[in-house]
Amino acid sequence: MKKAKVILDKDFTISEVDKRIYGSFIEHLGRAIYTGIYEPGHPQADEQGFRKDVIDLVKALKTPIIRYPGGNFVSGYNWEDGVGPKEQRPKKLELAWRSIEPNEVGINEFVDWTKKVDSEVMMAVNLGTRGIDEARNLVEYCNFPGGTFYSDLRRRHGYPEPHKIKVWNLGNEMDGEWQIGHKLPHEYGRLAREVAKVMRQVDPNIELVVCGSSGPGMPTFPEWERIVLEHTYDVVDYVSLHYYANFPSGPEFVELPNNPDLASFMAKNLDMDRFIKTVVSTIDYVKAVKRAKKDVHISFDEWNVWYHSFEKDRKVEPWQIAPPLLEEDYNFADAVLVGCMIITLLRHADRVKIACLAQLVNVLAPIMTVKGGISYRQTIYYPFLHASNYGHGIVLNPKIDSPKYDSRLYTDVPVIETIATYNEEEDTINIFAVNRDAKEDLLVEYNLKGFEKFNVIENIVYENDDPFAGNTPENPDKVVPHLAYNAKVNNNILEVLLPKLSWNVIRLKKIN
Ligand code: AHR
Repeated sequence: MKKAKVILDKDFTISEVDKRIYGSFIEHLGRAIYTGIYEPGHPQADEQGFRKDVIDLVKALKTPIIRYPGGNFVSGYNWEDGVGPKEQRPKKLELAWRSIEPNEVGINEFVDWTKKVDSEVMMAVNLGTRGIDEARNLVEYCNFPGGTFYSDLRRRHGYPEPHKIKVWNLGNEMDGEWQIGHKLPHEYGRLAREVAKVMRQVDPNIELVVCGSSGPGMPTFPEWERIVLEHTYDVVDYVSLHYYANFPSGPEFVELPNNPDLASFMAKNLDMDRFIKTVVSTIDYVKAVKRAKKDVHISFDEWNVWYHSFEKDRKVEPWQIAPPLLEEDYNFADAVLVGCMIITLLRHADRVKIACLAQLVNVLAPIMTVKGGISYRQTIYYPFLHASNYGHGIVLNPKIDSPKYDSRLYTDVPVIETIATYNEEEDTINIFAVNRDAKEDLLVEYNLKGFEKFNVIENIVYENDDPFAGNTPENPDKVVPHLAYNAKVNNNILEVLLPKLSWNVIRLKKIN
């Protein structure tokens, strides 16, 4: 059997986890809002039309921040269309996704919904068709207490208290040719700077996220980051990164559906890792050029697996309300890769302070709904659930000695992907580990340095014989994790068996 060794040392740490690393994203896209979180008339709908079954599934994920309203949608959105009496709100052509937007849900309803799921809004402003004026008015509407035109408008709309939205995106994917109002880096950098200035004048407590690259494959990456940051470094707090595994930009995608190159697929998070490292270097380069003292961090505000729905999406008729777009049917292998991606984010917890699983309901989603029917968890729900519930405290920097493999697209891929968090308050260590090998189990020895008297309290294993099986409305619990007894501690050495192609959680607690 293959073997790996890992050292976890109490004194060898990366950073405290910012809980916003477990953020998510809801866009006015497809069935995310309408028949997703919102379905008046559904047997589970509450007084506002929000589905209580979906609320429960989201709450369990403990996602502390949810990005809204887009995505590509925001670059053509007029937020004023979605506030005030519902019967007066216009139906509009939505150009980003070629749909019709009924505007039944807008900012105020979404803020209400985030409270129901114990979360907060991360708001994006439209820098595609709009700019400085819209952005400052929106901050005034949302965050100013009262006594001005927009704050009083909010009060008249039934919200006497300001929403106090803290984190704001300065547009979305402005480097992308597909974006409504796409810009060159100098154009965007100048605009983002001026928008940031007025937004901060309205509310000095907000945090701002400037658009980085839509992916590491973009032709302007990483010059985009350098130029944009040279314009904005002193007025922003985060650079936004997006990455979807198997976005169809390379030859690997063409081959995947019929000839699954699983070994390459399971290493896709290494692209994400390199992406983060390059952006960190670029940020720090600009910091040096500017002789700046403050740090700019990363908001990885779109990440996931995305490739199953492309064919279906091409066949969807345009100009419908809530068409079934980007409805990925996730399988077990996707879930394991999502686990690897979470480990990558945790490994960069010193610089990645916000991250959003894109998205949350129906669109590229861990949670699916049937219109008028059930809601259920897709495979990718589970690794996110485990990490968001247990991955808190200090991230330990693991020293890993693993067997490696070469695949068609990657070389020297470690068979194990692993990270651990130490929660000082609870005196627990939570280890997350993936065995990327689809054929063989892996035996791992964790040397727990400085952690005397810790013992296993829980071992969760997510494994499945068929990597391409998933959950469906007919069989919603086909691929679920189970408790296991694969782990034991002896003299500060934890020995654990990671079954072939699996996501594993090993939870340890100090025994007094
Ligand atoms: O999440 C789906 C889309 O992916 C978003 O609207 C856009 O920002 C990205 O290209």
